[in-house]
Formats: sequence, C-alpha cells, structure tokens
Amino acid sequence: MKMATMKTILQLHDLKAWYGNLQILHGVTLHVIQGEIVSIIGPNGAGKSTCLKAIANMVPKIEGEIFFEEKSMKKIPPSQLIQHGIGFIPQGRVVFPSLTVQENLELGLYTQKNVDREAIEKMYEKFTALQKRKREKAGLLSGGERLLLLDEPTLGLSPLMKKSIFEKIKEINTKEKVTILMVEQNARMALKLSDRAYVLELGKNRLAGTGEELLHNKEVEHLYLGGHG
Ligand SMILES: Nc1ncnc2c1ncn2[C@@H]1O[C@H](COP(=O)(O)OP(=O)(O)OP(=O)(O)O)[C@@H](O)[C@H]1O
Ligand SMILES: [Mg+2]
Repeated sequence: MKMATMKTILQLHDLKAWYGNLQILHGVTLHVIQGEIVSIIGPNGAGKSTCLKAIANMVPKIEGEIFFEEKSMKKIPPSQLIQHGIGFIPQGRVVFPSLTVQENLELGLYTQKNVDREAIEKMYEKFTALQKRKREKAGLLSGGERLLLLDEPTLGLSPLMKKSIFEKIKEINTKEKVTILMVEQNARMALKLSDRAYVLELGKNRLAGTGEELLHNKEVEHLYLGGHG
C-alpha cells in the first residue's frame, strides 16, 4: 500500500449539481487519499468537469457534501482556493510543461476566459528566459499546494507533450507530495498513472477501482480503451 497514514484529503458525498433547472450530477461519491493520484474518466457530458467545478465552488447550485481535510468547501470562494492549498486548472486552460504549476497559476491562465495566444507566447518567452537564469529552484510548487485539481491537462496536445505532462504530474505527486485529482479523456495513460480512478456516467458513479483494475476491466476496455496499444 502506498500510504502509511491513509488520510482522506478530499471527500465528495452524494454530490448533486445543477445549472439552472438542469440537474447534471445525481449523487456522486468519491474520495481521494493524501498522496494519491486519482482520475475521473467517463464519456463527454458525464459531469466530470462539473465535479471539479463544484469542489471549486464554480457551480451555481449544489447539494451534498464536499470536504477538504475534513472542512466543508462550501464557503470557500474560487479566488481563495490557493490559500487553502488547492490548485485548480480548469479544462481548456493552457498548461506549459516547462513552467511549474505555481507559475502556471501565477500567470492567471486558469482564470482567463479568452486566451490571447500572442500574449501567451510573450509570457512564455519571458518565463523560459527567467527559468534559464534561475536554475536552482526550491521545488516545482512554491505555493504549498496539497491538492491539485486538473481538468484534462493534456487536451489538444501532441503525443509528446501529453507524455511530458503526465511525467510532470507524476513528478509533482512524488517529489512535491501533492495529491492529484484529475479528469482525463486519455483513459489508458490516466489509468496507468493513477492509484485509483472513478468512471462517471450521466452524473453518477459507474465504476471505481485501482488504475490497474480498471485497465483490465472489460467495460472500461470496451468503452474507453478501444482495444489498441
Ligand atoms: N455552464 C453550464 N450551463 C449549462 N449546462 C452546462 C454548463 N456546463 C456544463 N453544462 C452541461 O452539463 C453537462 C456535464 O458537463 P461537464 O462539462 O461536467 O461534462 P464532462 O464530463 O466534463 O464532459 P467533457 O468530457 O465533454 O469535458 C453537459 O451536458 C453540459 O452541456
Ligand atoms: Mg469536461
């Protein structure tokens, strides 16, 4: 077993969520143990992003419980996540593998609605130059994150970049001791990397198990692994 202490860092209990009158989550229950990498997989529209957004208080109406380190998340606004030790990189936000997670967060890329490619290129150049000058860094994360929520961090990236992001996630987990909860459409790579995973379908839990178990689960194989590789 990976963890000696097995402390639950995050717990979602019977989570329900709505956008207006439309109910998206119909009772999702999951937990993440300190030190784990846990993935959420499932078809488009299953409510994977909604789960992460609910944790970050970015969903207008929820019911059920969300506990982070035994404290309810309900009164923590998105802008204060970082102070509480939670980093959140929503779906569709650019993550630069050459930058630390902290730098990615500082760049504010995770809050920008419309990403200005040119501005990003400029920032990217600036930061790579900066990094070259500052070789010895204290660590990947200087912000004291204990939990990192990643929504499809490899979306739209080349296979090489995907690999690099997955390596980075592993490194953040092992070296910086940051617990990871991520949503990934690349089920095979996510399951290989993950200690455990959950399959969501239509806003509900469908399957759960260790990454290894789910990699060899017939239903997962059929639906998400496509029989290749
Ligand atoms: N802001 C919103 N307002 C209304 N409906 C929304 C909103 N965001 C998401 N939805 C709907 O909620 C459902 C679940 O969306 P969600 O983004 O959580 O799914 P997902 O599992 O992350 O899917 P994907 O794999 O496509 O990212 C979808 O039917 C989606 O259209
Ligand atoms: Mg999504």
